[in-house]
Amino acid sequence: MTTTPAPHVAVLFATAQGSTRDIAEFIHEELVSRGANAELHDIEHAPDLTGFDSAVIGSAIHNMELLPEASAYIRHNLPSLTGKNVWLFTVGLGPALRGPIGRWAGRQIPGKIGAVIATLHPRDYAAFAGKYEREGVSWRARAMFRLLGGTRYGDLRDWDAVRRWADTIAHTLQLPHASTINTSHP
Ligand SMILES: Cc1cc2nc3c(=O)[nH]c(=O)nc-3n(C[C@H](O)[C@H](O)[C@H](O)COP(=O)(O)O)c2cc1C
Repeated sequence: MTTTPAPHVAVLFATAQGSTRDIAEFIHEELVSRGANAELHDIEHAPDLTGFDSAVIGSAIHNMELLPEASAYIRHNLPSLTGKNVWLFTVGLGPALRGPIGRWAGRQIPGKIGAVIATLHPRDYAAFAGKYEREGVSWRARAMFRLLGGTRYGDLRDWDAVRRWADTIAHTLQLPHASTINTSHP
């Protein structure tokens, strides 16, 4: 009997305040629990991708673009990423906006992120809500957040959305369903 080797997946993240790392950890745990040979790395300490079949890359959004270390990584490693299964996710405020204007605004992909997607050709791209603390945010930024349909502050992450996306990755990688997925996340 022959067994198919487990897919070798690099889960790479760029974070400023930790919420993107938590989401990357969650995706990593889901893939490992379903049998993938997945590794989790801060993008600045990413291993050589030779030998990996797939990569999941996540970055926080600052000023409508990926964090500089994520953009630089993708630019420098485009040759080795091309030809692999690549998934990209971003963490920002868009998906947490509510109301007709907020939902419309939240669906817009900032131009520089669109350009990365056009270059990288990920199998899929997902935008997740992150964290937004009220303290230290200028009144202008707060007013803009409200106008666009931001209704609350704090941890805005939607773990069900992350779980659903991780499931589509697992499905594409033909990983079996885990009967019990044991994670420390909600
Ligand atoms: C300086 C700064 C700029 C930001 N700019 C954006 C932005 O342009 N678009 C957006 O959706 N979120 C923006 N955010 C919100 C962050 O993306 C969000 O808080 C996210 O959870 C941060 O991820 P991290 O905890 O992994 O750093 C910004 C946050 C900071 C601190």
